Amino acid sequence: MKIDGNKFSKIEKEVFAPLYPLLAEQIIAATGKTTGTCIDLGCGTGALGCALLQKTRLQMLFYDEYPQMLELAAEKMAEQQLAGRFSLQCGDVANIDLADGAVDLAVSRGSIFFWEHLEKSLQEIERILAPGGWAYIGGGFGSQQVMDEIIARMEAKPTEGKESFSAKIRRNLGPEMQARFASALSRAGIRNYTVLRNDEIGLWIIIRKCDNGLPAEGLQASR
Ligand SMILES: C[S@@+](CC[C@H](N)C(=O)[O-])C[C@H]1O[C@@H](n2cnc3c(N)ncnc32)[C@H](O)[C@@H]1O
Repeated sequence: MKIDGNKFSKIEKEVFAPLYPLLAEQIIAATGKTTGTCIDLGCGTGALGCALLQKTRLQMLFYDEYPQMLELAAEKMAEQQLAGRFSLQCGDVANIDLADGAVDLAVSRGSIFFWEHLEKSLQEIERILAPGGWAYIGGGFGSQQVMDEIIARMEAKPTEGKESFSAKIRRNLGPEMQARFASALSRAGIRNYTVLRNDEIGLWIIIRKCDNGLPAEGLQASR
């Protein structure tokens, strides 16, 4: 994936910013994780990890395949006076250089749509989760209202002949992508997951790594 970090950083600050605190609240409500180690996969400029740090006592590992993104994430942490609560790692989600069970929470927003090796990446995420750990991975805007506002602002920008922003959102957060995720999870051999999709929250894979290998209460695979 080719992405201009400075251009993305400007859009994140000027247009996307309102979504991250809402999403952080949704992740905390769904997983209950407020302590331990969290990894923000495909973190970009680190906005989601930053919002989670502001609402929890987590330690954050910002992970991205581009060093430029990690530099921008580090700048954001310094601006927000969150030095000492994060580390940085460069790599592909399909091959994460961490030990089994290294993290309590894995989050990722807006990155999975670019992952070349989806099954392998999902297996890697489950591998690095500690027993009792959670993953919350997908795309969304925090609420329908924020999504509508962001779409309106993005649509006002010139598309330079590319697919419109709303068409991209419909494709990334639609029922076909939901089916693709469910199929990849099944092929990856991941047992305890759900794939949520609705207009309010977007499209999210939630994985629970079970203690003793037993299915976690209240989370059924959407197969
Ligand atoms: C659209 S940006 C989203 C950034 C951030 N998560 C956010 O919501 O603001 C996607 C990010 O995923 C990263 N990315 C894409 N594929 C990746 C992969 N296979 N491994 C690691 N990072 C990846 C890109 O470098 C980019 O920073």
